[in-house]
Amino acid sequence: MRAKAEDLRRDGKKIAVVPTMGALHEGHLALVRHARARADVVILTIFVNPTQFGPKEDLSRYPRDEEGDLVKARPAGIDLAFCPSAEAMYPPGAQTFVEVRELQKPLCGASRPGHFAGVASVVTKLFHITKPHLAVFGEKDYQQLAIIRRMTRDLDFGIEIQGVPIVREADGLALSSRNAYLSPEQRLAALSLSKGLAAAEAAYKGGERDAKALVAAARAPLAAEPLARIDYVELRDADELSELERADQKAVLAIAAFVGTTRLIDNRVLGG
Ligand code: PAF
Repeated sequence: MRAKAEDLRRDGKKIAVVPTMGALHEGHLALVRHARARADVVILTIFVNPTQFGPKEDLSRYPRDEEGDLVKARPAGIDLAFCPSAEAMYPPGAQTFVEVRELQKPLCGASRPGHFAGVASVVTKLFHITKPHLAVFGEKDYQQLAIIRRMTRDLDFGIEIQGVPIVREADGLALSSRNAYLSPEQRLAALSLSKGLAAAEAAYKGGERDAKALVAAARAPLAAEPLARIDYVELRDADELSELERADQKAVLAIAAFVGTTRLIDNRVLGG
């Protein structure tokens, strides 16, 4: 892959990379289409990265369907797919990690220790291997995108990072590979995340700026849903992810909740 990327760069091609863990859905295909419209060569990476899963998380049962993924990705516009093994990515003795110190602490970082070090490190490796000019990520993983942007800037990777808006089902559920774990009843319960965000956004549009009130509006549908268990509902500064008492500046309202054993996330940017 490295040699191919070097050849492409030597030929003056603009390379875009779309890093994924596979189990592709329309949200991923939107990333591929975004990349396709902006680069000469689109590289899709598929790698279920073990270092971003905690010991009690779903690494072994994470949905894997490489062949099916490629069938979906080709018509969306990929030129190359890079699907390495865990052994190739992490040779024995691998011990170097990239950490974005402050941005990795709150939200998902608080409930998933080590997760963002795993993400930042594997994305660094994927960048080094695919040598892109442009990299495309989904805005559903809001904190991940903030971390990757900061890492890319801080470490002078010279890669343009672009985010693509969340793709939702008609009823509002944010697309996620983990939705595949949900039973029909759980899927209905999972709508409480997007309902919470819609309620908070309605309050915001009505002039509410108090963080506690916005968070309370977002929590209500989740709290009323017996199959959902809130991990966090928080209003944070959109760039620094610092705590806010009021949404007077651009802010992100972020939710993580378990539906059964499946942990789902969703977010809405307010203002800005
Ligand atoms: O968002 C994902 O699918 C993963 O976290 C990523 C960015 C591909 C790193 O493994």
